[in-house]
Amino acid sequence: MDPYLQITDNELVIPGLKQKRVFFHISDTHLAVRDALSTEEEARQAEEWEARWMVGKENFARSFGEPFGDAQRITTVEGFDKMLAFARDERPDALLFTGDNLECMHPAGERFLAARMKDCPLPFLAVPGNHESASLPGVWEPGVRILDYGDFRVVGIDDRLGTVSGEDLDRLAALGNEGIPMIVTCHIPVSTAMNRERMSKFSPYFFISDETADENGIRFVRFLMDCPAVKLVLCGHIHGYSDAEIAPGKRQITASQGMIGFIHRLTVRGE
Ligand SMILES: [Fe+2]
Repeated sequence: MDPYLQITDNELVIPGLKQKRVFFHISDTHLAVRDALSTEEEARQAEEWEARWMVGKENFARSFGEPFGDAQRITTVEGFDKMLAFARDERPDALLFTGDNLECMHPAGERFLAARMKDCPLPFLAVPGNHESASLPGVWEPGVRILDYGDFRVVGIDDRLGTVSGEDLDRLAALGNEGIPMIVTCHIPVSTAMNRERMSKFSPYFFISDETADENGIRFVRFLMDCPAVKLVLCGHIHGYSDAEIAPGKRQITASQGMIGFIHRLTVRGE
């Protein structure tokens, strides 16, 4: 396998599920793109972002004790294409992108990502991160996004502003009431009594707390904690891997950086 790629295996058991499903959870690829249509200023800016992350991504990897070598010293675009090529070979049921797909909204990045996902032969669900806006047509759209497998769902939520809109919360509550098991994907992780100690190592910028968020933010955290239909939360943002409970028996997985080749392969199966 290409030494850029770093695969972590996770598993979720949902009793009664008829079919095993495999997902690739990818986060924080922070694509910095320049292309033939970029202005000189845009090209210079993209180069600057790339150079900054070349150092920044190594620092994040070191701080989480995650492997980082020469194989990871490639551009965000090269890395992204390696992950897509691997996904095309492995053919998981879907790709789940949990935000900061782009370093920021920039014309060449938007063109690149929209084109790649248009050509992607696999289903995917992407949510925006705090570096992005609410919509990139063809990649992520405003509102609650759903991949429906009949006996369970993957539900994408925009929490990039450290809160969730009232409309999206209402939709989420309605889905919860239907009782069909769901995996929630979002960008910013949540902090509850159960993982507070771990999260308190980071500044409040890095999580949505059930103590300090705004009213909607708190409603979101409580929904994830209390709704029995929610089986797992997948997110990113902190640029390091963790798998910890936010409520008894309910885990939140934060993805490591996509821009150092991390793919968290999630297998969902019945008992
Ligand atoms: Fe990020």
